[in-house]
Amino acid sequence: MRTRSIKEMVLEQGALAHLFERLGIDYSIEADQTLEEACAKKGLDFDSVLLDIRTLESTRSYSFLHCDLWDVEFLIEYIVENHHRYLKETIPILAAQLRKLIAAQGDEYPYLRPVSMLFEGSAHEFEQHMRKEEMILFPYLKSLASAKEFSRRRPMAPFHSVESPLKKMEEEHRETAQVLNRIRGLLSDFKVPHGATPMHHAVIKGLQALIKDLHQHIHLENNMLFPRARALEKYFANGPTEPYPEETHSLHQ
Ligand SMILES: [Fe+2]
Ligand SMILES: [Fe+2]
Repeated sequence: MRTRSIKEMVLEQGALAHLFERLGIDYSIEADQTLEEACAKKGLDFDSVLLDIRTLESTRSYSFLHCDLWDVEFLIEYIVENHHRYLKETIPILAAQLRKLIAAQGDEYPYLRPVSMLFEGSAHEFEQHMRKEEMILFPYLKSLASAKEFSRRRPMAPFHSVESPLKKMEEEHRETAQVLNRIRGLLSDFKVPHGATPMHHAVIKGLQALIKDLHQHIHLENNMLFPRARALEKYFANGPTEPYPEETHSLHQ
């Protein structure tokens, strides 16, 4: 357990994402670190985190989403229909609520203005990011998966190798996560100040929910979809005799 990566643990047991989120352990961007390294970084006691994990396993409050079994097309649909749609709906609402709150109480709570600036800037960037995924990268990945499924030739790509858009998307995920961490810091880990109005409470909890959702979103792309995209490209580069990891997949890995 000590030397297992955060990525391996969350891929095997989806419910751990909620525990790691609560502890502030990054399972989307820094997912290659071991549990021990992650605990040291956050100043958490390894043994008590281990106890939390064992408790969670014994209560069997696992996720019912078996996303490791989905095909690439469905995984993409899920990301777009669940996570992209949620962000597109929520970002304008939260941005407007923040602006209203600043107009009413901006001087009383000085962290609100920098939070709003950071949020609006990064939300704009991320909307562009999702558009690139939906318009270019995801359609290509779907056509690649379908070509493999029906033993067709590799489809024409709008880039030399899928590696370059994947790297670019990963870089943008990292940049967004850094900004969101700054927001989390400015909001003192989403603690609602004593005497805050219901609108203030809603903004803080709304931002917390959005950041949590974004971690799951990035985890699905970085740790589940992109490795499969790389494997698909490798399959076509090596010819149809090369085994594709999906075919050797075991439920007990
Ligand atoms: Fe996305
Ligand atoms: Fe993304």
